[in-house]
Amino acid sequence: MKPAVGSITQSREAPMQPYEKFLAEILIPEDTLQARIRELGEEISRDYQGKALMLICILRGGVMFLTDLMRSLTVPHTIDFMAVSSYGAGARESSRQVRITLDLQMSVEGKDVLLVEDIIDSGHTIASVLELLKTRAPNSLRVCTLLDKFERREAEVPIDYCGFKIPNKFVFGYGLDLDEYYRNLPFVGVVRPDKYMPPD
Ligand code: IMP
Ligand code: MG
Repeated sequence: MKPAVGSITQSREAPMQPYEKFLAEILIPEDTLQARIRELGEEISRDYQGKALMLICILRGGVMFLTDLMRSLTVPHTIDFMAVSSYGAGARESSRQVRITLDLQMSVEGKDVLLVEDIIDSGHTIASVLELLKTRAPNSLRVCTLLDKFERREAEVPIDYCGFKIPNKFVFGYGLDLDEYYRNLPFVGVVRPDKYMPPD
């Protein structure tokens, strides 16, 4: 695999530094995130009364959002996980082709599937996953994303539930990583452009 184009530095030790070094600003503070997730949970709970709700989380970025969202749901539901990777792309580049690296353990047939994503950027990842899942005969298929970087959209994707529309800036924290680190931060932060340059 070719090295990621926009690595924090060329050194692997770099991400083991305190996150403050890479933080330009906090875009969405913890309380704002949590309040919005509670609202989304209420809305989803209303819409899925009496349905066979199955949440599908795309690893790894969506994990934090999934677990908080689940706690705000009042309807019974199951969860499952998928992992995908882009063909021939660096860590943060997007590609039109995605490959399933971890498939679901459970069947989606007849289920009311809600895809739970951390961020929709170009839209290619979610578009491919939707295309695949449609072939497996779910009863319904919808998308819930915490963040929508709408200015970068290349593939058209229907978003049924959206936490926040955000500007075209590289963000990290609350599940989103910078070279796999800092996913644990309870807020969404913008990366300092002088410390880190995304590939495009
Ligand atoms: P898409 O296929 O371009 O929509 O890519 C979506 C994926 O790219 C997300 O699930 C993230 O893993 C990653 N991504 C896009 N923008 C960001 C960002 O600002 N920070 C961290 N990861 C990002
Ligand atoms: Mg992701």
